[in-house]
Amino acid sequence: MGGRFFMLAFLALVAAAADKPKNVLLMLGDDAGFEMGSYLNKICQTPNLDALAKDGLIFNNAYTSVSSCSPSRASLLTGLPSHQNGMYGLHQGVHHFDSFDKVQSLPKLLRKMKIRTGIIGKKHVGPNSAYPFDFAHTEETESILQVGRNISRIKELAREFLATQNRSQPFFLYVAFHDPHRCGHTHPEFGNFCEKFGNGQPGMGKIPDWNPVYYDWQQVKVPYFVPDTESARREIAAQYTTMSRLDQGVGLLMKELENAGFKNDTLVIYTSDNGIPFPSGRTNLYDPGMAEPMIISSPVHKDRKNEATHSMTSLLDITPTLLDWFGIKDARKVKKHAANLTGKSLLSLLKEEPADDNQTAVFASQIHHEVTMYYPMRAIRTKRYKLIHNLNFKMPFPIDQDLFISDTFQDMLNRTRNQQPLVWYKSFLKNYYYRPEWELYDLKYNPEEQNNIVLKKSMKSTFEDLKNRLFEWQKKTKDPWICSPGGVLEPFNGDKNNLQCMDSLAF
Ligand SMILES: *[C@@H]1O[C@H](CO)[C@@H](O)[C@H](O)[C@H]1NC(C)=O
Ligand SMILES: *[C@@H]1O[C@H](CO)[C@@H](O)[C@H](O)[C@H]1NC(C)=O
Ligand SMILES: *[C@@H]1O[C@H](CO)[C@@H](O)[C@H](O)[C@H]1NC(C)=O
Ligand SMILES: *[C@@H]1O[C@H](CO)[C@@H](O)[C@H](O)[C@H]1NC(C)=O
Ligand SMILES: *[C@@H]1O[C@H](CO)[C@@H](O)[C@H](O)[C@H]1NC(C)=O
Ligand SMILES: *[C@@H]1O[C@H](CO)[C@@H](O)[C@H](O)[C@H]1NC(C)=O
Repeated sequence: MGGRFFMLAFLALVAAAADKPKNVLLMLGDDAGFEMGSYLNKICQTPNLDALAKDGLIFNNAYTSVSSCSPSRASLLTGLPSHQNGMYGLHQGVHHFDSFDKVQSLPKLLRKMKIRTGIIGKKHVGPNSAYPFDFAHTEETESILQVGRNISRIKELAREFLATQNRSQPFFLYVAFHDPHRCGHTHPEFGNFCEKFGNGQPGMGKIPDWNPVYYDWQQVKVPYFVPDTESARREIAAQYTTMSRLDQGVGLLMKELENAGFKNDTLVIYTSDNGIPFPSGRTNLYDPGMAEPMIISSPVHKDRKNEATHSMTSLLDITPTLLDWFGIKDARKVKKHAANLTGKSLLSLLKEEPADDNQTAVFASQIHHEVTMYYPMRAIRTKRYKLIHNLNFKMPFPIDQDLFISDTFQDMLNRTRNQQPLVWYKSFLKNYYYRPEWELYDLKYNPEEQNNIVLKKSMKSTFEDLKNRLFEWQKKTKDPWICSPGGVLEPFNGDKNNLQCMDSLAF
């Protein structure tokens, strides 16, 4: 005990004396899931992510606060849920969603603290004034395939960023891969997951640093929420190839960090934005849409290397974690922003597992994906229970363009039309489209979220408790949808400081 204390004190002194800058490298997969050796997928080859997990802490209960690309990225970078930062849906093109002009974000706050920020890859958030990176190579400056999937190009850009880094200044480098996102919708010539892009075959170009790994569709691991059909299996095989490319990109980045001499003072985080692009995954708040891979590897926290945490973690925790890591919790601007954050720093988890967080909850808020896909939902999840509130529950659940054209989904439609079995964990697409207002699942006995127990008498107090906690979170995060559906937020008895939900359906 004493020895360890002195060791820690000594290290602290050394750190203080050298006044070493402490940096962050945040790597994000795009629609990446648990297709990794370290998450017990024995087929998909991810040696570099596995090595990172070995050199860090792997998270078994990490969840996004929103299951859609731009909203998730905006939430990650602000620490605020979708309804509070304003990014209600996808940012690009006709979708045109933006965060609120005045919202504080990591690049904005860190810039004020003289921490250099860089982004390589998919940005997909705006307006630019709310996300002002110092070094930016994104879809706004060049082809998304180059900055998001060409791992040689990504390596070169990272090298440039690190080579031009002032060593007495800390940095935050955010590398947002576009892998392993689908691409059948935009670049069908490269395959369903762009798995052929740069593989050296005629017309595909070459990515010099990539050794493509190919998979046999008969051997892939089909997750329980994906139909076990040939169409789906072939897509998963392509997804794995693309995931293996991302993994090799992670290896290149770690090497760049080491070569530039920053490995010793850089916190490295890997996670993803939302669930995989299959039914019940992305755009859903079921676990396949919400649960995320996460690894944090720290050069100064050695206690829990190669361990797993089961602590309830939200992607809303990333911003507080970075503010903590950079030691700028107390700056005035940061303090003001931090007062609005509902997440928590994860650094203490790198030292020890909390004694008991059985009651700890993570929250989610979904509004749109595409502009047409208005399907607002709110959710609370503890280790044991999940409660989902489907605000527009009378509408059919909307299907996104990218999933719609996929063979997996077309096959499901064909089977439905032809009255053939779906070979799926739900019997009918109709059950997937039409959801009740409230869904409550006991994840201990029903991790697949099939058996809605909200009406069970024995669940009454659990339901009330979760509902109240969700309502309190909506209140704290100033959720404009707090009274939905059917309610209107109005001053009570004319008192502007006492807003309450007035029921418009009470007749
Ligand atoms: C590097 O950063 C330090 C501290 O901010 C500053 O004093 C110095 O001028 C910078 N050096 C260069 C070359 O920009
Ligand atoms: C990927 O980037 C490298 C390095 O910039 C380049 O040489 C190569 O042609 C690119 N590959 C593709 C397929 O665009
Ligand atoms: C990193 O730390 C290791 C072990 O503490 C040390 O041998 C090495 O010189 C350090 N490298 C740098 C770049 O500080
Ligand atoms: C925090 O929330 C309050 C109330 O909504 C808002 O006025 C303020 O601008 C927010 N602060 C920051 C830093 O976002
Ligand atoms: C937390 O939940 C686990 C699993 O249900 C249980 O084994 C453990 O006893 C609980 N801890 C406390 C303090 O209730
Ligand atoms: C679905 O059916 C259409 C029409 O019969 C057919 O052209 C298509 O190939 C089928 N798609 C899949 C994925 O089975």
